[in-house]
Amino acid sequence: MSAASTPLLDEYRLDGDGLEVQNPASGDHVATVKDYSVDEVEAAIAAAKAAMPAWAARTAKDRAGVLRRWFTLIMDHQEDLAQLVTAECGKPLAESRGEVAYGASFVEWFAEEGKRAYGEVIPTHNPAARIVVVKQPVGVVSAITPWNFPVAMITRKAAPALAAGCPMIVKPAEATPLSALAIEKLALDAGLPEGLFKIVTTREPAKIGEVLTTHPDIRKISFTGSTAVGKILMRQAAGTVKRTSMELGGNAPFIVFDDADLDKAVAGAIASKYRNAGQTCVCANRFYVQSGIYDAFVTKFSEAVAALKVGDGVVDGTDVGPLINSAAMEKVSGLVKSAMNAGADAIVGGAPAGIGGNFYQPTVLANTTPDMEISSAEIFGPVAPVFKFEDEADVIALANSTPYGLAAYFYARDLGRVWRVAEALEYGMVGVNEGILSTEVAPFGGVKESGIGREGARQGLDEYLETKYMLMGGL
Ligand code: SIN
Repeated sequence: MSAASTPLLDEYRLDGDGLEVQNPASGDHVATVKDYSVDEVEAAIAAAKAAMPAWAARTAKDRAGVLRRWFTLIMDHQEDLAQLVTAECGKPLAESRGEVAYGASFVEWFAEEGKRAYGEVIPTHNPAARIVVVKQPVGVVSAITPWNFPVAMITRKAAPALAAGCPMIVKPAEATPLSALAIEKLALDAGLPEGLFKIVTTREPAKIGEVLTTHPDIRKISFTGSTAVGKILMRQAAGTVKRTSMELGGNAPFIVFDDADLDKAVAGAIASKYRNAGQTCVCANRFYVQSGIYDAFVTKFSEAVAALKVGDGVVDGTDVGPLINSAAMEKVSGLVKSAMNAGADAIVGGAPAGIGGNFYQPTVLANTTPDMEISSAEIFGPVAPVFKFEDEADVIALANSTPYGLAAYFYARDLGRVWRVAEALEYGMVGVNEGILSTEVAPFGGVKESGIGREGARQGLDEYLETKYMLMGGL
C-alpha cells in the first residue's frame, strides 16, 4: 500500500489549509494535516489532566495490557508505517521497517517494565515510625520529537510515560507528522482512553513549543533534537521548574586502533556512519585511525562506501536516501567544500549526487585535520572525515575535546586498552567493537551538552516517576 493511501492516515488528512508534508526524495506533496492552534493545544493539556487520575489508578498490569495491544498493532501495520516513514523522512524502506520494529520494541519493553516501578522500605531511624518510599507518575508530560526517527523517538518517550501512568502530548517535527498521527490512531485502536496520548501537529513549532514548556499543568518536557533548541526549551521550562529529559546533539568519535579487526571496523564504520544518510545523533562524526592501520582502513572503507547505492528510499537496493531538505544539503556541501579548500582529499564522493533533489554522495575525506570545521560540527550527512593519530593518550584527548558527549565508538583487541579507553571516553554511550548500540533494553543518552536523562531500559521509566517518602509515625 502506498503512503498516500494508507488507511492509518485517512481521518487525519485535510483538504484545506494546514501543515503540508513533502517527500524529501521527490519534493512531491504527500499530505496536508491539521495545524493546531494554541487554544487547541491548551485544550489537549486540559483533557490530559482530566484523563490522568483514572489511568494512573489502574494497575500496572492493566496499563501493560493496553500497551501490549498497541505494540501488536504497530507490528501488524509495520509495512504501512514504514511506507509513511520513507515518504516523509526519506530513509530506505528496509531502514524504515527496522525503525518501526525499533519503535515498537519500546512499547513492548515498557509494557513489562511499568510493572516494576518498585518503591522501598528503609530501616527506620525511629522505633515508633516506618519509612516507606513509593514511586508515582510525574504528571502530564509534553514531548517534542525530531524528523530523523519519526516513530521511534515518540514511542521511546510515550511508552514509559504511559506505563508509569502519565499522559503525553507530543509535538512531532513539522517534516514528519504522518507516522506520528498513524501511531496515535493505533494507540486509540488498542484501547488507550481519549486524552492520554495526543499528537499536536503545527506549522509554528516555536509557538506551540512555548506552550508545551511553560504551561503550569505540564510537569515534564522530554525533547530530542539539537543542543541549541534544547537550551531554549530548558530556559522556558525553568519558569515552572519542570523536569526535563534532553537527548541533544552529538559529535561521535569512531577510533580504530592498530590492533583492531580491520574488516569488523570497516563494517561497523559503514553501519554507524551511513544509517539514515548520516542523519542520526549517534552517527560516527569523526574517524580517528592509528597510523599503522590508517592506509589499510582508508582503502577498505572507501571501497565499501563507493559501493553504497544512493536513491529514493522506495527503490529496492537503495542504501542511502536523501537529506531531509535543501538547508541540510547546503550545510553538508559547505562543510565538505571548506574541508577540501583547507587541504582534505575526497577519496570517495565529495559532492551532491547529481541526480537532483537533496541527494549527497556518500563521502570519505582523508588528510583532514582537527582545525577544520568538519571536525567539530555535527555533520548530519553521509560524510566521513578520517584523521590519523599516533598514540592512545592523544586520541582520547582529541575524542573528548568537544562540548558533546553522546556516543563514541572504538575498535581494539588488547583487553587493557579496551578497558582504559572505554572508561576514559567522556560519553554516555560507548560502542566497543560495535558500530550500532541502540536497543530498547539499554539506557540511551548523553553527558555534557548532549543532554540530561536516559531513554530505554529501566532508567527510561524512572524519568516519568517521582519519588515520594512517607514517614508512617505514631506506631
Ligand atoms: C537519534 O538520532 O536521536 C536516535 C538514534 C537511535 O535511537 O539510534
